[in-house]
Amino acid sequence: MKYILSSSILAADFCNLEKDIRDAVKGGAEYIHIDVMDGVFVPSISFGLTVQSSIRKCTDAVFDTHLMITEPIRYVEEFAKAGSDIITVHLEACEDVHATLKKIKEAGCRVGLSIKPSTPVEDLKPYLDEVDMILIMSVEPGFGGQKFMEESLDRIREVRRMIKTSGRDIDLEVDGGIKIDNLKTVIDAGINVVVSGSAVFKGDVEKNARAFMEIMKAGR
Ligand code: DX5
Ligand code: ZN
Repeated sequence: MKYILSSSILAADFCNLEKDIRDAVKGGAEYIHIDVMDGVFVPSISFGLTVQSSIRKCTDAVFDTHLMITEPIRYVEEFAKAGSDIITVHLEACEDVHATLKKIKEAGCRVGLSIKPSTPVEDLKPYLDEVDMILIMSVEPGFGGQKFMEESLDRIREVRRMIKTSGRDIDLEVDGGIKIDNLKTVIDAGINVVVSGSAVFKGDVEKNARAFMEIMKAGR
């Protein structure tokens, strides 16, 4: 299994975004996690296409775009054009999940599907044949710097079992409250793509990313 750090720029210093991204990549982050929030699906508004297109010019890292927006199907093509490699949408935000996932694939991106902490993991089952990645939210989406919800661990184990049963090669990503001290626990539960915002971008970014990677490599 390949273990990947996806560093969430929501916690980066936007006056020095290029430097922060370069430092995270130097430390070993293969993905840059881009949290797009619309103020409707989640209470906050973050940033969108303009920021993503701008930073596309300063890195070749994989862009892991997390759309926390209502009816994301409306914006799939534009995010693909703005440089997304992976587009993850929320099951709860789509009127037609199948059509949305199909649109992501047709746009040439890897297909991600996410669920909020209150959504039953079984709801993912009808889509297992259509996704490349499942994202388990371990906090209520909308804000960085929240505390990891411990009950996510059972959900992760359950989804990892579902993936094994499907026989498909699906990445399992976790997002929210991941720090050095709970990293091994989520990996042991079955995660192979780890999103982290504040624990990477607050302080020495390169050193933080490197510390994540050391633990993740040991899990291989
Ligand atoms: C929350 C976002 C997360 C957030 C994670 O809605 O989806 O990606 O940036 O931040 P931390 O790692 O600080 O919990
Ligand atoms: Zn996210």
